[in-house]
Amino acid sequence: MLLKYLTLSLVTLVKNSLTSGIVLEDFDTAFTNKFYHSHLDDMANINSSAVVAAASLIARSLYILASDNNDRHSSVLGAINVNTSLVEELMGCLLSCKPGLSCEMVKNYIAPANVCPSHYVGVVIGEPSFKPYLGYVDDVSRFVWNFLADRTSTPKENASSRCSKDCTNEDEVCIRAEINGKGVCVISTTSLNVADHRYVPAYSTRLMFESGTWNVLPPNSSDSMGSVDPVWTESNWNTIGLRVYTIQNGAYDHLILIGGITVTILAYFMIALARSFITKALKRD
Ligand SMILES: *[C@@H]1O[C@H](CO)[C@@H](O)[C@H](O)[C@H]1NC(C)=O
Ligand SMILES: *[C@@H]1O[C@H](CO)[C@@H](O)[C@H](O)[C@H]1NC(C)=O
Ligand SMILES: *[C@@H]1O[C@H](CO)[C@@H](O)[C@H](O)[C@H]1NC(C)=O
Ligand SMILES: *[C@@H]1O[C@H](CO)[C@@H](O)[C@H](O)[C@H]1NC(C)=O
Repeated sequence: MLLKYLTLSLVTLVKNSLTSGIVLEDFDTAFTNKFYHSHLDDMANINSSAVVAAASLIARSLYILASDNNDRHSSVLGAINVNTSLVEELMGCLLSCKPGLSCEMVKNYIAPANVCPSHYVGVVIGEPSFKPYLGYVDDVSRFVWNFLADRTSTPKENASSRCSKDCTNEDEVCIRAEINGKGVCVISTTSLNVADHRYVPAYSTRLMFESGTWNVLPPNSSDSMGSVDPVWTESNWNTIGLRVYTIQNGAYDHLILIGGITVTILAYFMIALARSFITKALKRD
């Protein structure tokens, strides 16, 4: 029995073998992304209206969960809408190389090192300070951190307080610090832990929600490589490739065989004919 999760077709596996299998998937309807996880699965393959629809669904679900308001027809729920042009702008910045990270939205927050966004998942341990070590904190992680910190911030009375790294008040974070080293301090919930701002874009059992805030638990000291809970998802694989073989039709093989036999027989007769011709010619002389 073969168990598969998600999208790949079992038909190809089952067709020529006796393997029985079932596919588990989370969809009520058929999965339609035929380029899923291939190099063709790029921005042209992503329907921005579907992203907007999914985002609206998540936002409304969060509202229902947070407010205990189960009235599906409430006007507040209907008023929660996703900014379609923002989604499209973010898709252009984060999913393509044109404009890619050189778009205004990104340049508003960070000084990107590359134009093409890397989709390698990153971990920001500590605040992405001015001049971070780019090998650890790549453009997308830094942009997402700054963007979220900005969008979840509450405006400060005096927005003029400039920062280059840390803010003096504990509940504030310094955003846009990379732009000429002159960031602004904002009060933001993106700091997961008041004393120790962390944003970890990875799944981890070290993330704990307690008394209204998310906390990153300290690493297990007896587990120095983090193998019990790998917050770091290191996977520097080579580019995944695909090799396609076509199966040759059996009739073609038989045709080649018959052709070969015919040529052999013809060659035999030609040689015999040539030999008798030469022998005759030699005898005549
Ligand atoms: C894009 O998504 C929307 C919403 O899910 C859907 O109505 C529309 O048919 C989709 N368009 C394409 C081309 O798949
Ligand atoms: C939607 O997003 C765009 C692009 O970021 C922005 O210019 C516009 O003001 C936003 N609209 C609303 C209603 O927030
Ligand atoms: C804001 O700035 C003004 C003038 O610089 C100052 O008088 C005021 O105390 C500041 N308010 C806060 C909350 O820092
Ligand atoms: C720390 O890791 C060890 C194994 O490496 C495990 O036995 C222990 O329960 C872990 N402690 C905590 C607090 O997770």
